[in-house]
Amino acid sequence: MRKHIVAGNWKMNKTFNEADELVSDIIEKLESIELDRNTQIILCPPFPYLEMVSDYSDDSYFLVGAQNVSDQESGAYTGEVSAAMLESMELDFCIVGHSERRAYYHETNELVAAKVNQLLKHHLKPIVCVGEVLEEREAGKQFEVVEKQVREGLFHLSATDFADIIIAYEPVWAIGTGKTATPEQAQEMHAHIRQLIEKQYGKAVADETSILYGGSCKPSNAKELFANPDVDGGLIGGASLKADDFIGIATAF
Ligand code: PGA
Repeated sequence: MRKHIVAGNWKMNKTFNEADELVSDIIEKLESIELDRNTQIILCPPFPYLEMVSDYSDDSYFLVGAQNVSDQESGAYTGEVSAAMLESMELDFCIVGHSERRAYYHETNELVAAKVNQLLKHHLKPIVCVGEVLEEREAGKQFEVVEKQVREGLFHLSATDFADIIIAYEPVWAIGTGKTATPEQAQEMHAHIRQLIEKQYGKAVADETSILYGGSCKPSNAKELFANPDVDGGLIGGASLKADDFIGIATAF
């Protein structure tokens, strides 16, 4: 059975002390609840807090991921962080191709593919974000756009490598806007993505791939979204910054 995953993408938020407080709060809350055994919690703090958050996770209930990685192996790339560095910190995951990176830092599918290759080479699991912008949905092009992102970002991989991929469908018009995709909109896109994977890699791989929903997911709508057969959890932005909200979502299965 594929994993249920709830991943918190903190983006560029919180000072060090605030981040420390947030993890403590999350742990305290996790200790007081019984989480579904198939549910995996992932925290993705900003780079400077990765070690602090990882230290907490030693004896705890969540895994840790970065929000971005370089497409290059090492060398003169000022300000970049390599997959080898993340691997040496024993991190497990990394978000790639988030729509904010695609929009503000001009990340293409080709760059996403190169980052995915780096992560896999260094034994990290990529959480690969795809999703259409509002104009594309209004023009009825959402399936086409997402298919291109999935194909160009991921379908160069072998079936063995693809088994380490987590996909996050994040309609850009729903990110940070308070406007969530309806459960039907999420399910139909997730099913579309799973069909693409099945055609490329076969049913066994498609059935094992976790496909997360992202975009204004909160405790009040997580249950409805996660109830869909092809929605395997969420990539959570705003609501991951408050322990109560984040845990409310993690317990929505
Ligand atoms: P949001 O962000 O939950 O704040 O909409 C989701 C994301 O960007 O991953």
